[in-house]
Amino acid sequence: MKRVLVTGGAGFIGGHLAHGLVRDGHAVTVLDSLATGKRENVPEAAVFVEGDVRERDTVEAVFSAARFDAVCHVAGQASISRSFASPEDDLDTNVLGTLNAIRSCLVHQVPRLVYASSMTAYGQPSVVPTPESAACLPVSYYGVTKLAGERYVQITGDRPDVSLDVTSLRMFNVYGARQSVDNPYQGVLAIFIGNLLRGEPITIHGDGEQTRDFVHVDDVVEAWLRVLERPESHGRVLNVGSGRETSVNDLALGVLATFGESPESWEVRRTEAQLGDQRRSAADTRALSALGWSPSVSFADGLARTVEWARATHGARSAETGVPRD
Ligand SMILES: NC(=O)c1ccc[n+]([C@@H]2O[C@H](COP(=O)([O-])OP(=O)(O)OC[C@H]3O[C@@H](n4cnc5c(N)ncnc54)[C@H](O)[C@@H]3O)[C@@H](O)[C@H]2O)c1
Repeated sequence: MKRVLVTGGAGFIGGHLAHGLVRDGHAVTVLDSLATGKRENVPEAAVFVEGDVRERDTVEAVFSAARFDAVCHVAGQASISRSFASPEDDLDTNVLGTLNAIRSCLVHQVPRLVYASSMTAYGQPSVVPTPESAACLPVSYYGVTKLAGERYVQITGDRPDVSLDVTSLRMFNVYGARQSVDNPYQGVLAIFIGNLLRGEPITIHGDGEQTRDFVHVDDVVEAWLRVLERPESHGRVLNVGSGRETSVNDLALGVLATFGESPESWEVRRTEAQLGDQRRSAADTRALSALGWSPSVSFADGLARTVEWARATHGARSAETGVPRD
């Protein structure tokens, strides 16, 4: 049994991770400002502290109140478009927040830190599926701050004067139950599902041929849990993706089909490409596979399960009350 702090544990990924840790018998504390997270995502068995990782004293108080064997730093500003709208907030949350977590790990001699990094670190990689050794040249402000957080974590882990084992997980497009379907700035798959549920048209930015690697949150949680147990992951940066490339056009077709709709029955709008949009994205997952992890949820199954959850939780308008194509 480990005592684990999950920052961002009221959010989509952090909430699933907190549940996975509780299920495996660990004692979990969650620190979250509820900026985008929800209290109900935190497992009942976890200690919940509402607080902001940007505030050094707040973070220090959490580390002073309990001893942790590991910290999963998941809290972050997760929206590319918000990073352009409020770059200072993005910087403070993703970089200063990470520095505060690192600092408290060092002050309180926490031995283990795992960081929620992002495939946006790669920018427009020349090789797809992209291995961890590829050059990182982010094309969004968000990608810059996630990469900066990652470098702070990894460089700290390399310091000979400190004893902190670190790992950064470069997650690709994570999807699944509890992802917000009401947040127009975060997660294209959840945005499309929200559109269908509310009877709104789907909007595709650019030509829709940009690709994403959708990895189910259950697989992502298994990656975090495995990495926490495996010393071979210390000091490493690891991709967490499915290895599959799916275009946004194909994603739209898939979501529509899951609702029993098609571009003939449902309005699909096209608009300009978004700032910071990556053209192609898929993970080379060989490094994490070597630690015994492999994604187990097929996209068809994961999408069906996510839509089922969304319908059960948020209700769905019937096809008749949807948005018939003009
Ligand atoms: N969703 C993805 O596909 C994806 C991919 C790669 C990396 N990530 C990273 O994973 C992490 C979680 O993303 P998510 O999709 O679960 O998003 P999310 O918005 O659901 O979760 C982020 C959590 O962090 C909390 N938070 C935000 N600012 C905070 C602050 N200043 N102090 C304390 N808590 C704060 C939010 O309230 C929320 O609970 C983020 O760091 C994100 O950058 C996400």
